[in-house]
Amino acid sequence: MSNPVEKVPAEGRRAFLKEAAAGVVGGCCLLVPAGAGLVAWLDPLSQPSGGGGWVRVAALSALPADGAPRRVTVVSERRDGWTREPEVPLGAIYLRRTGERSVQALHSVCPHAGCFVDYRPEPRSFFCPCHDSTFAVDGSINDPGSPSPRAMDGLEVELKGDEVWVRFVQFRTGIKEKVAVS
Ligand code: FES
Repeated sequence: MSNPVEKVPAEGRRAFLKEAAAGVVGGCCLLVPAGAGLVAWLDPLSQPSGGGGWVRVAALSALPADGAPRRVTVVSERRDGWTREPEVPLGAIYLRRTGERSVQALHSVCPHAGCFVDYRPEPRSFFCPCHDSTFAVDGSINDPGSPSPRAMDGLEVELKGDEVWVRFVQFRTGIKEKVAVS
């Protein structure tokens, strides 16, 4: 008497399992990037907002050769949720030529409580009008009794030909440590 359930040969079963496993692996390979893209699309706040990125801020040839700081407005794209604004002022910095092809960038926000720091050509120094902090031309603290807990915040600079690029970051005020907040 023959068995009513026909047995599938062992080779056939192996081939079937191999194909099924390949299908599962292939499906996962497609699903992972698709899922990541979907998460990024659904959560635009997780994407860069324009702050904290590299911004072209000036022409090197436009900076005074004598090392006097020049105040520059940082303008870049800003993203807010799904809204994208192309040319938005993000803040201001001081640029100072320190050599033929070297530039120092200092944030214009006072590390004490966030007022804007002015530059005074005479004497060559920075001055915060809110609580009288003074800084040397390189941003270091001038007066040991200064209310500012740290020197002016330096920013990363990169030169590309005649273009000056700065990695624009905001920092927490009122503390000794330099802590980026965006
Ligand atoms: S905010 Fe600059 S000294 Fe206070």
